[in-house]
Amino acid sequence: MKKILITGGAGFIGSHVVRLFVNQYPDYHVFNLDALTYAGNLENLKDVESKSNYTFVKGDITDEAFVNQLFATHTFDGVIHLAAESHVDRSILDPLAFVKTNVIGTVTLLNAAKNTWKGAMEGKRFYHVSTDEVYGSLGDSGLFTETTPYDPHSPYSASKAASDHFVRAYHDTYQLPVVLSNCSNNYGSHHFPEKLIPLAIHNMKNNKPVPVYGTGENVRDWLFVEDHARAIAVIFHQGKNGDTYNIGGFNEWKNIDLIHTLCKIMDRKLNRAEGETAKLITFVKDRAGHDLRYAIDATKLNKELGWSPSLQFEEGLEKTVDWYLANETWLANVTSGNYQQYYQVQYTQR
Ligand code: NAD
Ligand code: DAU
Repeated sequence: MKKILITGGAGFIGSHVVRLFVNQYPDYHVFNLDALTYAGNLENLKDVESKSNYTFVKGDITDEAFVNQLFATHTFDGVIHLAAESHVDRSILDPLAFVKTNVIGTVTLLNAAKNTWKGAMEGKRFYHVSTDEVYGSLGDSGLFTETTPYDPHSPYSASKAASDHFVRAYHDTYQLPVVLSNCSNNYGSHHFPEKLIPLAIHNMKNNKPVPVYGTGENVRDWLFVEDHARAIAVIFHQGKNGDTYNIGGFNEWKNIDLIHTLCKIMDRKLNRAEGETAKLITFVKDRAGHDLRYAIDATKLNKELGWSPSLQFEEGLEKTVDWYLANETWLANVTSGNYQQYYQVQYTQR
């Protein structure tokens, strides 16, 4: 049985990746390493926690002794690395936390893999999951390709860019078998309500103001999270050693148009009069260093490995809203306690 280490598996995307691997690859044993920060939640994995090919390991990827011991015990055939501090606004409030986990944590894992696999790299794979934000911001036209130069603007994207460089450096210097992907904005179930879509759904549901930064003209390219998880499985198994693959849905939306679409869905789902939910839209102070537009060219992944997105955006949004309306307890649990303090700082004290 192959042993696969997935880091950050209790988070939003990680939990979908863990679910996919545990269910679709019964001949793999999946180890989910997660520190359970505010963003990590074992409730995301209730449906797989008792499966015989799944083990949860609580631990911090920046803890060198712990990570080395874990690799020494299990060796691992593959690593899929998703653990990260992932929210741009939090990176503006506390950049060092992002350097620690995203840069030092990644290098700690790379070192452990290099030292454990030394002399026996054949068949091993270190997959680093990254973001399109490393490419910076686009103007009105053009798309990010795998050769677009890096130009990060936020502490989050700078830390992810640094981690990507380290992964490539370990490939070039130590011949570590790596593969990378850079994905656009994900949406779907189990998304922590600090990010635009789940935060908006939560506030719309509770008749609270829906904060839109600046004028809402910024553009993001949205991909259903289960399509990202499927792309990760394809790249993990078929991606070329040392290569990078961009992942995206060719699905660009201005924030304000996306919010109006969500408002219409919520009016219908909550039996409100047409236009009722849109009254909650509130323009607030812009994000510092706010990138104008992201858009991914995922042609390489489609042409070389045959992946394409499965869902239309409106269909994915409906599914997402349905999940949040059906999972009130999940939402109530993650929005109590520390979330309230974060919300206060981010939306009223900035
Ligand atoms: P998330 O914030 O929902 O989850 C991150 C997970 O990592 C949590 O479970 C958390 O507990 C864990 N974690 C954080 N610090 C840790 C540490 N020091 N040690 C061990 N575990 C730790 O993030 P997400 O949105 O699921 O993103 C996952 C990955 O995908 C990240 O690397 C992110 O950069 C990348 N990504 C995200 C998106 C997106 O739209 N969300 C798009 C492209 C790429
Ligand atoms: O592009 C991939 C990235 O997408 C990932 O690497 C990040 O981990 C992920 O968080 C996401 O980053 P964004 O900053 O694009 O996502 P966020 O949901 O925070 O914001 C989406 C857009 O909505 C962005 O233009 C900022 C805006 N926004 C966000 C929030 C939280 C608002 O207008 N109001 C808000 O309250």
